[in-house]
Amino acid sequence: MIQNLGPRIMLGGLLTAMAATFAVAQPAPAAGRGAALYVSKGCYECHGLAAQGAFVVGPALSPLRPPLAVFSAYIRAPVGQMPPYGLAVLSQSEVEDIFAYLRGLPKAPGAAQITILAPYVAKPCEPAANHETCGQPPRAPPK
Ligand code: HEC
Repeated sequence: MIQNLGPRIMLGGLLTAMAATFAVAQPAPAAGRGAALYVSKGCYECHGLAAQGAFVVGPALSPLRPPLAVFSAYIRAPVGQMPPYGLAVLSQSEVEDIFAYLRGLPKAPGAAQITILAPYVAKPCEPAANHETCGQPPRAPPK
């Protein structure tokens, strides 16, 4: 009886190994690949790790508004300081993965929604406001 189980255990092990190999061979979802490319291709250097944009360096890419065709055309031939990403460094499917990643990012809360930052958020300028101080953040947060 015990001897008969040997081949079954081996077959079970083989099937488990095959399943593991199959799972590894499955392509990661586009957004997952895009997240890795966003870092490895250096987008984050200028646009921020959460695509939030960085003052002076690169605009926010989240929420991402342009459709894929516009996004893709811009990356190939940017008009300003951004370096062009040609096909040799970024394939079209890689552009699509990054697009999927950026489109899938959850909306980040604004500074006004973050308790510790809220006191620093500039007040909007109302027509009757004091125009020397409106639009300026307070110098020190209220205690
Ligand atoms: C060296 C800095 C730098 C890197 C690296 C960089 N960008 Fe940019 N990117 C910019 C700047 C600066 C702009 C603003 C316009 C300009 O100067 O081209 C921009 C603009 C853009 C825009 C247009 C945004 C808009 O609101 O008009 C997109 C889309 C974009 N970048 C995507 C990417 C992606 C995707 C990557 C990585 C593959 C990347 N960028 C890498 C600096 C960079």
